[in-house]
Amino acid sequence: MTARIIGTGSYVPERVVRNADLAEIVDTSDEWIVSRTGIRERRLAVEEGTSHMAAEAAKRALEDAGVKAEDLDIILLATSSPDNCFPAGACEVQAAIGAVNAVAFDISAACSGFIFGMNTVYGFMRAGIYKTGLVIGADCLSKLTDWSDRGTCVLFGDAAGAAVVRAEEGGLVHMTMGSDGVKGPVLSCVARTTGNFVNGRTPEIGYMYMDGQEVFKFAVKKVPECVNQVLQEAQVSMDEVRYFVLHQANYRIVEAAAKRLKQPMEKFPMNMDRYGNTSGATVPTLLDDLNRAGKLERGDKIVIAGFGAGLTWGAALIEW
Ligand code: ACO
Repeated sequence: MTARIIGTGSYVPERVVRNADLAEIVDTSDEWIVSRTGIRERRLAVEEGTSHMAAEAAKRALEDAGVKAEDLDIILLATSSPDNCFPAGACEVQAAIGAVNAVAFDISAACSGFIFGMNTVYGFMRAGIYKTGLVIGADCLSKLTDWSDRGTCVLFGDAAGAAVVRAEEGGLVHMTMGSDGVKGPVLSCVARTTGNFVNGRTPEIGYMYMDGQEVFKFAVKKVPECVNQVLQEAQVSMDEVRYFVLHQANYRIVEAAAKRLKQPMEKFPMNMDRYGNTSGATVPTLLDDLNRAGKLERGDKIVIAGFGAGLTWGAALIEW
């Protein structure tokens, strides 16, 4: 028994923020952002938070799958920007959709989060523990962004994507995940500085910090490496893969991966031009785009792969 995706859904906030809008708040330009990243616009949450976006994406995925919320056994929400420290965002989604029979918890693996969620649910399903699951990737990084830092504020957007997964033959074929905590400081968001009654300091909310070039170097090496590993171990050739659905951080990273894997760019769909880097949401929103556009056929082999803070990385080979 493995884990098959039987429905997808996504949600993006209505508010569109174009590169030109950002050029009004920091020293940047549409030309710089497009040429360095491929991003033209992104959606930013005005009132909605991570759990709301996640619940909306979840409802759409359940509808697409024809599954009732009560039938879910497990809900995993991959996010690095939960609305609260606790309760977990996954529990808020559970309440919002009425998944009364599910266990719900969050996974924190930043932009690799959806891959880690899929791989975790796969483990439970292979072990015969759960039959029907919901994996969501949702992030609202606009709340953690320093809007005076042009090096990061132009890159991110807010969104949620979800997949309903069922224990069936076929589906997720093989996977890998990895992390390197030593490199953690190159991409971090210190949520709260230490402060309590004893040291007399007031906790403060921190912002995201990124050493862009270090992350870039890590991504162009790790993504092809883990894609190669998954395919080799599954004994599936690169040419048999219909799509490589990679984390949407930067089109240059996707191009570099395609080059290293010696595969044509047509196999690497992208949506970062419209949504920016939506962290844990990039892979499931892109899967949902492809699914709703009728571009996925049963039996298609798809590789999903991501990288992000931690540092973390992961890939999975999926049969649609
Ligand atoms: N507009 C204009 N100029 C800018 C901007 C901006 N928005 N941002 C930086 N610059 C300037 C820099 O100050 C620098 O100027 P200088 O030469 O005068 O010092 C110059 O542009 C070049 O800066 P670099 O950092 O070298 O630019 P680079 O080509 O590396 O592109 C980028 C930066 C886009 C951030 C790139 O490094 C990148 O994409 N890195 C990977 C980021 C990534 O994938 N993040 C995902 C993280 S996933 C997660 O877990 C959240």
